[in-house]
Amino acid sequence: MNLLSCSSNHCPLSSGFVATIDSPLKSSLSIPHLGWGQRRDNVRNKRRLSKIVAYHGLKNPPYKLDALEPYMSQKTLEVHWGAHHRGYVEALNKQLEKNDILYGHTMDELIRVTYNNGNPLPEFNNAAQVWNHDFFWESMQPGGGDMPTLSLLQQIEKDFASFTNFKEKFIEAALTSFGSGWVWLVLKREKKCLAIVKTSNAMNPLLWNDIPIISLDVWEHAYYLDYKNDRAKYVNTYMDHLVSWNAAAARMARAQAFVNLGEPKIPVA
Ligand SMILES: [Fe+2]
Repeated sequence: MNLLSCSSNHCPLSSGFVATIDSPLKSSLSIPHLGWGQRRDNVRNKRRLSKIVAYHGLKNPPYKLDALEPYMSQKTLEVHWGAHHRGYVEALNKQLEKNDILYGHTMDELIRVTYNNGNPLPEFNNAAQVWNHDFFWESMQPGGGDMPTLSLLQQIEKDFASFTNFKEKFIEAALTSFGSGWVWLVLKREKKCLAIVKTSNAMNPLLWNDIPIISLDVWEHAYYLDYKNDRAKYVNTYMDHLVSWNAAAARMARAQAFVNLGEPKIPVA
């Protein structure tokens, strides 16, 4: 068994994966006393038995687990990232062991493939939740909150009339999400504007071709340890102290490679 590692930690759209290639070809080629025909048949038979499986890794948040204190506790990160997020990764890897055809996809490709045009494969929920959580950790930063930088602020004011109105709409969306799910600020490719969308369970805006800019996890596991059932306090704290407008500005800058918003370009903070 050989282990090949392929790290893509720099890419927010995919987590690193390790490909395990279970191939007995090397040992079969070294058998000296077989004739060429026998060896060829042996290799063919072994090749049919070879198995290639993709394993995805658990990415670390881009800060220490206590870095968001006191607004999001280390205990919450230990449970939310260290148990829930890890659980999605491990469950996905177990599923992928049984499904060679899903080998080699990045995580965002895997979400689209396993969504299967609205008839999701068993792997979809775990794949989407891995992506969603990676994106969520990178949507926050120590010392976050406050206001976006100038150009992003101008785009928000253009599409929501004011930053205050955007903030109210985002909070309202989070508080009116029924059950478990996510709230997103996305860039609409066709309409060329920012919008707030809500998704249930593991659903992800990539599925209808939106470009995510920031996200908020409104599953109860995201806030219960710190805020019990007070989702409003959690959501307001996220907007005031946690959301990373630096990450949002960087994502907007990348998004403008695909969506022409006109000048000026939004600079990376
Ligand atoms: Fe979560």
